[in-house]
Amino acid sequence: MKPKVWVTGPVVESELEPLRKIAEVELRHQVAKPSVEEMVRRAPELAGVIPVLGAPVNAEVIAAGRGRLRVVANFAVGYDNIDVPAATAAGIPVTNTPDVLVNATADIAFGLILAAGRRFGEGITAALEQRWHWAQALMLGQEVSGATLGILGMGRIGTAVARRAQGFGMTVLYYSRHRKPEVEFALGCEYVSFDDLLKQSDFLSLHCALTQQTRHILNAEAMAKMKTSAIVVNTGRGGLIDQPALIAAVREKRLAGAGLDVTDPEPPTGPDDPILHTPGIFVLPHIGSASWVARAGMTRVAARNALAVLTGERPPNCLNPEVLDRSAG
Ligand code: GLV
Repeated sequence: MKPKVWVTGPVVESELEPLRKIAEVELRHQVAKPSVEEMVRRAPELAGVIPVLGAPVNAEVIAAGRGRLRVVANFAVGYDNIDVPAATAAGIPVTNTPDVLVNATADIAFGLILAAGRRFGEGITAALEQRWHWAQALMLGQEVSGATLGILGMGRIGTAVARRAQGFGMTVLYYSRHRKPEVEFALGCEYVSFDDLLKQSDFLSLHCALTQQTRHILNAEAMAKMKTSAIVVNTGRGGLIDQPALIAAVREKRLAGAGLDVTDPEPPTGPDDPILHTPGIFVLPHIGSASWVARAGMTRVAARNALAVLTGERPPNCLNPEVLDRSAG
């Protein structure tokens, strides 16, 4: 009997073909994420699970799959939905989908820099409602060309954003867990302290993973160090920002605005959520990786990782390789 792999939401089905050759692949068709209860209910029958963006794989789900579950192949690069230490303790490899979504996400980040800097959100609303007259001071915003861009987290996506910034003649500063001399050399970026990043950036773009250490890394205290003309852009995870503090800072004009592809909670609490009604804050519905190319690539990579584990190969994108090394003896 073929091992069973459950894909928790719609993906690009044609890319699952190689996996289907060795596994019984079941696709859940609902777009909404499964609850923890549903994940726990399904886990005991699965050899593999492909959690689609944000589907929860917590310690309870891992425990429910113990004995049969052999791989958690996340369909996303961010993996804050997965309890990786619990998977590691259970000897289960966890994988993700880097690289294939870098350009798509960097494009959205740069789009948000332009959109928030030049107030597209308010502009679109005013145009739709025919509530404007041209005036010298209509919707003045922050120029992107020549401005200073701060990148928090210089990984693959941060680097791709820095590359785009070169075309706009921006000065690029960054702060990251690890210094990246090769990026500094190739793109002329400057490594600075977190405090200096906050103080000097005209645009601050967040590209670090959401972890216990980075949750609310941009809190009221950090925002207070930023220029009042600064714009925050987030294509990482909503939890990187203390959202009520951001709303207060933009409302009180202690920050000029924000462009957000991710929010906390996500989706926002409802149509009245203040994150959707703060002039200066421009929100997208988490579409960073929503290009045809990226989504096909994410499916291909998630399936390839699951296939590798289930056929006894080393998965290309393992987040807890110690599990593989341990089982290799
Ligand atoms: C998207 O948000 C991802 O983490 O892939």
